[in-house]
Amino acid sequence: MSARPIAQPADLDVVRDSYDRVADNYVDLIAATALGDIRLQPWHRAAIDVFADAVRGLGPVLDVGCGPGTVTAYLAERGLDVSGVDLSPRMIEHARRLHPECTFDVASATGLDLAEASLGGVLAWWSLFNLPRNVLPDVIASLGRALVPSGQLIIGMHVGDGDVPRTEAYGGVPVQWTTHLWQPEQLVGMIEQAALRPTAELRIPADGRLLPGVVLVAQSGGSA
Ligand SMILES: C[S@@+](CC[C@H](N)C(=O)[O-])C[C@H]1O[C@@H](n2cnc3c(N)ncnc32)[C@H](O)[C@@H]1O
Repeated sequence: MSARPIAQPADLDVVRDSYDRVADNYVDLIAATALGDIRLQPWHRAAIDVFADAVRGLGPVLDVGCGPGTVTAYLAERGLDVSGVDLSPRMIEHARRLHPECTFDVASATGLDLAEASLGGVLAWWSLFNLPRNVLPDVIASLGRALVPSGQLIIGMHVGDGDVPRTEAYGGVPVQWTTHLWQPEQLVGMIEQAALRPTAELRIPADGRLLPGVVLVAQSGGSA
């Protein structure tokens, strides 16, 4: 599949500033609640554990939109060669402080310079929902191209329809971003367009606090 340049979202700077503003509260919320801490969310953890087993030995793993690095560090504890990137410099400051054993860099999912067939796994854990609808397919394709044969992509995403403008998040912090909701079938379509093979789908119902979600796993070409 040939690469085409990924359009940079018009709101990238305001989204970055917004995540910089919420980063401190986000870290506090992870510490105080189950939010974002997969150790306290058994189904999320199960999916990540299977992903970890599937990518072991295939090559480096990249956590795209890693936030403060909670899941990155969880994968590193499982012996994976994993690093994280995030749009928000403040999130990356926290990640480096909290998990000095891992490598973290500031980068947008829309601007990664990933060599073809260079990664055993890619994780995009509730980190792609701010990407405009016309941009997400190209980002997924670029992540897919970076996988080695049998490499694994795992995506966590809010489920629903429409584009929800957010003006505050994570404890009332003012933000300016759009949460783009997707149906799992739409995401599966993008995964297939990226020449990846969907291998698992885990639906997570809304729990009163959180939107419904889906975890999708896909495999790059090659034998299972
Ligand atoms: C809900 S948080 C999830 C963070 C982390 N994956 C976790 O599970 O704790 C969303 C993250 O996506 C990041 N993000 C948003 N847009 C991004 C982009 N274009 N490129 C990279 N990261 C992005 C935000 O900065 C934020 O850290």
